[in-house]
Amino acid sequence: VKTAIRQARLLCQTILTQVIDKKQSLADCLAARDLPKAHQAWIKHICFGVCRWYIYLDDLLARLLSKPLPDKHQDVHLLLIVALYQLLHTHTPEAIIVNESVEMAQVIRKPWARKLINGVLRTFIRQRQALTTEVSLSPAIQTAHPAWLVEQLSQAWPQLVDAILQANNAHPPFSVRVNLAKISREDYMALLTKHRLTATAGERTPSGIVINDAVPVHDLPGFAEGLVAVQDLAAQLAAYELAPAPGQRVLDACAAPGGKTAHIAQLQPRLARLIALDKHARRNERVKENLQRLQVTAEVVCADAVDIDSWWDGQLFDSILLDAPCSATGVIRRHPDIKLLRQAEDVQKLVSEQRRLLNALWQVLKPGGQLLYVTCSVLPVENRQQIENFLANQADAELVPLNYLPATQAVGYQILPGEQAMDGFYYAKLVKRG
Ligand SMILES: C[S@@+](CC[C@H](N)C(=O)[O-])C[C@H]1O[C@@H](n2cnc3c(N)ncnc32)[C@H](O)[C@@H]1O
Repeated sequence: VKTAIRQARLLCQTILTQVIDKKQSLADCLAARDLPKAHQAWIKHICFGVCRWYIYLDDLLARLLSKPLPDKHQDVHLLLIVALYQLLHTHTPEAIIVNESVEMAQVIRKPWARKLINGVLRTFIRQRQALTTEVSLSPAIQTAHPAWLVEQLSQAWPQLVDAILQANNAHPPFSVRVNLAKISREDYMALLTKHRLTATAGERTPSGIVINDAVPVHDLPGFAEGLVAVQDLAAQLAAYELAPAPGQRVLDACAAPGGKTAHIAQLQPRLARLIALDKHARRNERVKENLQRLQVTAEVVCADAVDIDSWWDGQLFDSILLDAPCSATGVIRRHPDIKLLRQAEDVQKLVSEQRRLLNALWQVLKPGGQLLYVTCSVLPVENRQQIENFLANQADAELVPLNYLPATQAVGYQILPGEQAMDGFYYAKLVKRG
C-alpha cells in the first residue's frame, strides 16, 4: 500500500511539473498516462485542486520559507504545495499528510529535505489561523488568479468580478447531452434513476442534463452506445442556434474534438454536406473517434481555415460555426490549469487569430447565410468588441437575435460561468445580407 501511495504522489509531482514548469495542459498530461486504477481519482483530485489553488498556495508557502527554494529544488517546492493543498482542502488527517510528505524526500532522493518538509508543515499546522489571515488580501491571491486576468475582469465586469472569480473556483457541474435522435431526455433521466443516479434537466437546452453524482463517464448508462455525450450546457446551444436544415451545406470551422460537429449531425441527418475542419491533425483524430462513437458522419478535414485555397471546393456555405480558439477564461472551473498557462500576451494573439478567421470565413458564406461566432471566453476583446469591430468593417454583415439566449442591448450574449449551471460562453449570430 505504501509503495502505491508513493507512486501516486510521484505521479502527481510529475504531472504538476509538466503543467507548472513546462506549460502543458493538465488534461493532456493526465490523458497521456496510464494512471493506476486504485489511485486514479485521488491523483486527478490532487492535480486539479493544486492547479485551482496554486497561486494562493505559492504565496502561503513563501511566507513559510525563510528564503525561496532554488530552481533545482522545484520538486521539493511542489511537494510542499501538494501537502498544503491537502491540509487546507482535504479531510486526510494532518499526521498522515506530514508523514507521507516527509517520506517523499526519500523517494525523490533528497533526504536532506525531510527536516525542511517536516518543519514547514508543522509550522503551518501550528500557525494555520494566523497564516491564512495573513496571506495577501489582494483578490488575485485570495482567489488564486493571475493578476492580469483579475485586472481585465475588473475592467470588463466591475459589478460581477467577485462572482466570476468565485465561480471559477467552484467545482464544475457534470453536464451531458442526451442524443435525442436515440432517446428522449425524459426517458434518459428515467434510465439514470434506475441506475440510482440523480440528475437535473438544463433550462436553456432541450438536450442538457446535469448529473448530480460523481460517476465515471463510461459508467453512464448507454455511454458506449452513444446515448449521451459529455458536453457543457452552454456548448450545447451552438447546434440549436445553428438550427441546420435539410439539404444545407454546413461548415464547422474549428471542430476538434468534435463535440459540436456531432451534435449538428445528430440534429440534422439530412444535410447536403457537413465539413469538420481543424488545423491540428492529432485533435482531428478525436473528432473521428467521437463521430464514430455517436454513430454520425461528417467530412473531417485537416487544414488552416484561414488558408481557404487549401481546403475550399468553391461552393458557398449556408451555415458556418466558428467556435474560435480563445483564452478559455470562461471554463476555468473546468480547466483550472488555464490560470497557470495563459498569459496576458496570449489574449492579443488570440484576438487577431479570431479576426483572421472571421474575415476569411465570411468569404465562403452564402448571401443570406449565417455565421455563428462562439467562444468560451469572458473577455470582451474576444467577444463583444471583436464582433463590434467586425460589424464596423463588414458592410454586408448584420447581427441577428439568438433563439435560445435572452435578448439584451449588448452585441451578442455573454454567458457568465455558473449562470444556470452553464460555463462562460459568448454567442453572436451574424447574417450576410443577400
Ligand atoms: C474551441 S476549440 C473547438 C471545440 C469544438 N468545436 C468542440 O465543440 O468540440 C478551437 C479549435 O480551433 C482549432 N483551430 C485554431 N485555429 C485554427 C485555424 N486557423 N484553422 C482551423 N482550426 C483552428 C484548434 O485546433 C481547436 O481545436
